[in-house]
Amino acid sequence: MKLSSLSIFISLAINAALAAPEIKRASSDPILINPPGFPSLPSSRTGSRIAPQVATTLNLNDIQGDVLIGMRKIKELFFFFSIKDAATFKSKLGSDIHSLVTNTNQLLSGSSNVPVTAVNIAFSNTGLLALNVTDDLLDPDFVSGQFAEANDLGDAGTSNWVSGFAGTNIHGVFLLAANHTQDIDTQLANIQQILGDSITEIYRLSGAARPGHEQGHEHFGFLDGVSNPAVQGFDDGDRPQPAAIASGRFILGTDGDTVSGRPDWTTGGSFLVFRQLQQKVPEFNKYVEDNALNVPGLSQQENTDLFGARLIGRWKSGAPIDLAPLRDDPALGADSQRNNNFNYDHPDISGFDVKSNQTLCPFSAHVRKTRPRATLGDETGAFDDHHIIRSGIPYGPEVTDAEASSNQSSTDPSLERGLAFVAYQSNIASGFKFIQQSWVDNAQFPADISVFGLTGNTTGVDPIIGRVGGSATDAPRVITGTDPLDTNKAFTIDSEFVISRGGEYFFSPPISALSGRLST
Ligand SMILES: *[C@@H]1O[C@H](CO)[C@@H](O)[C@H](O)[C@H]1NC(C)=O
Ligand SMILES: *[C@@H]1O[C@H](CO)[C@@H](O)[C@H](O)[C@H]1NC(C)=O
Ligand SMILES: *[C@@H]1O[C@H](CO)[C@@H](O)[C@H](O)[C@H]1NC(C)=O
Ligand SMILES: *[C@@H]1O[C@H](CO)[C@@H](O)[C@H](O)[C@H]1NC(C)=O
Ligand SMILES: *[C@@H]1O[C@H](CO)[C@@H](O)[C@H](O)[C@H]1NC(C)=O
Repeated sequence: MKLSSLSIFISLAINAALAAPEIKRASSDPILINPPGFPSLPSSRTGSRIAPQVATTLNLNDIQGDVLIGMRKIKELFFFFSIKDAATFKSKLGSDIHSLVTNTNQLLSGSSNVPVTAVNIAFSNTGLLALNVTDDLLDPDFVSGQFAEANDLGDAGTSNWVSGFAGTNIHGVFLLAANHTQDIDTQLANIQQILGDSITEIYRLSGAARPGHEQGHEHFGFLDGVSNPAVQGFDDGDRPQPAAIASGRFILGTDGDTVSGRPDWTTGGSFLVFRQLQQKVPEFNKYVEDNALNVPGLSQQENTDLFGARLIGRWKSGAPIDLAPLRDDPALGADSQRNNNFNYDHPDISGFDVKSNQTLCPFSAHVRKTRPRATLGDETGAFDDHHIIRSGIPYGPEVTDAEASSNQSSTDPSLERGLAFVAYQSNIASGFKFIQQSWVDNAQFPADISVFGLTGNTTGVDPIIGRVGGSATDAPRVITGTDPLDTNKAFTIDSEFVISRGGEYFFSPPISALSGRLST
């Protein structure tokens, strides 16, 4: 090797070392999980198998990948940032970040362009303002931000909030998902290198699917994400019941979006509600054990499990108690054709009245409070705009032996666990906020009020995520319906199993806007 070519070689090597960290190339290897019981996703439109059910109205190449796929990530990092230099940020967003962002098609089966690390980005209202984007997205809650709405959401003020969420300093969030944390770290380093000092980190939260057979289950142990609605024009082809929901309830500017007059560039976007929900698992387990039911013919353990299942409305396997009222039915839980095929009404059972009979499922059960299905009549009727797509992931380690044996969650911050809650909708007021305020935290919902034509004693707030309104201290929650032998029996829950650590409201723009309105 001549000296000159040697020095070229050395300088190339140095340049390579200084250049962006090496990013592995896209392939056809999937990066999503499909735990037993999850509905199958449609195939990629760009892949070899074209799914006929995918309508042309949803531009899956423009909708960011996280919006429609649900709770299927293996590892996910939420990286919350503030914009320090808007001009540089906008220029890099259009030139480099835009092409890193993963669309929906790329994550579906049959895609030949699956990224090693999926990248999504979303902006808070203050983030759009920092970019000088003052267009009205016609969503007052998004404009307020979550911090101003903590009390509306039932939080005990914001003293439990992660400091980064307390205020309006967060301008945006990167959602990075991959099979391995090292691939996420590499992609984050790449993004930070591209954006340089134009952003600063405010906070980060790492999520991970739970290990082994717990994959797809949240920390209390229940299969999570199976109640997500099917979306018309996306995954309604393979889902028998209940009826698929119009895409416009989730995706702005598409069929069924109830808000008109938004800027054209927002079509294909979605509002992302983020919440960090800490879960106190040993405390929950103790409460369930201490309140085991007394249904004849069931063992002590079965009566314990039944009580837990009646708080949730599903067994740990995902089987709905409406279809499996006494014992878990793992085959039902694992069958995506059947585990969502129920609506609490049973016209086949003579004399069964969906508006009063709680023998199969209590009105207070978490999944019934948050998605009442036929409890209020036809789900595609008057109440059909109160739907969200949940796309979060658990965070934090498994319960330690010391925590399990003491019935107490550790106060060590590194042992905090819970759910990185993500919900997508086209209208926060009728999506997440409505469900939280009018259903979850409303002790009168659905029973004890003539409005819905139901009869029974006051339902109580949601036993899992509900709070007795506005109280700074944790007022006891009283629920009924949980004992199938006496649905009037009241249970008092005097400690919180789920604690809000705060969050923010974001807009997940269509990918085209990243190189369009948001960068010009
Ligand atoms: C990611 O993990 C899934 C599920 O474990 C596996 O099927 C897939 O091949 C993995 N993909 C990559 C890119 O490693
Ligand atoms: C923001 O937009 C306005 C109106 O388009 C323009 O006059 C102003 O210079 C912009 N400011 C920045 C910081 O880009
Ligand atoms: C409620 O439904 C259950 C299960 O079908 C039935 O056994 C029970 O008799 C019903 N209760 C009333 C009060 O109708
Ligand atoms: C934990 O709770 C269970 C159920 O109430 C109880 O049997 C056990 O004694 C408790 N353990 C401790 C250390 O308090
Ligand atoms: C409410 O519960 C009480 C006490 O168990 C019972 O007497 C009453 O009938 C119940 N009311 C309704 C509407 O079910």
